[in-house]
Amino acid sequence: MATLVRFASSPRDLEAAFALRRAVFEVEQGVPRPLDRDAFDDRASHVVAWDDAGRCVGTGRLVRLDRRTGVLGREAVPAELRRTGIGAALLDALERMAKLQGLRELTVNAQLPAEPFYRNRGYVREGEPFQDQGVPHVRMKKALAR
Ligand SMILES: CC(C)(COP(=O)(O)OP(=O)(O)OC[C@H]1O[C@@H](n2cnc3c(N)ncnc32)[C@H](O)[C@@H]1OP(=O)(O)O)[C@@H](O)C(=O)NCCC(=O)NCCS
Repeated sequence: MATLVRFASSPRDLEAAFALRRAVFEVEQGVPRPLDRDAFDDRASHVVAWDDAGRCVGTGRLVRLDRRTGVLGREAVPAELRRTGIGAALLDALERMAKLQGLRELTVNAQLPAEPFYRNRGYVREGEPFQDQGVPHVRMKKALAR
């Protein structure tokens, strides 16, 4: 399966990203607070992955906090396509966007099962795990090379 990761630049891209977030966070994981949209989405930079059949197979977002820091989040890949490299491609794209925005550091509140995914890509745990909406999370951060 060929996958194209790109900046979500059209209403179609964004609708597909929000639909995938609903499918993963609300339907699959049963997270009580709706994660399909929030106030940060309007100012976030989003990425989407499309397969060659026109299906959205991944998404994630970058929210710029200040001149040097960004927060990653809402990374989602359909369950049946995980561990095939899509998540890593999304993360690469988000980090490239962060560098283009001049950011020096990224943080992520990772769901605990996703900690190895971020750790394998240079993110370091900060502090103890905490609960968010009943889901265990851990805060992680990474300094971006110039
Ligand atoms: C987290 C998520 C986006 C990763 O996407 P993915 O497409 O499965 O990731 P990849 O296939 O690119 O995997 C990249 C690496 O992380 C590892 N990895 C991925 N998920 C992992 C997990 N749950 N536990 C351990 N390792 C994991 C893979 O083995 C791979 O390692 P390697 O490249 O060093 O061999 C995906 O699992 C997902 O959508 N999870 C549900 C939603 C979620 O928890 N999102 C994160 C919110 S913080």
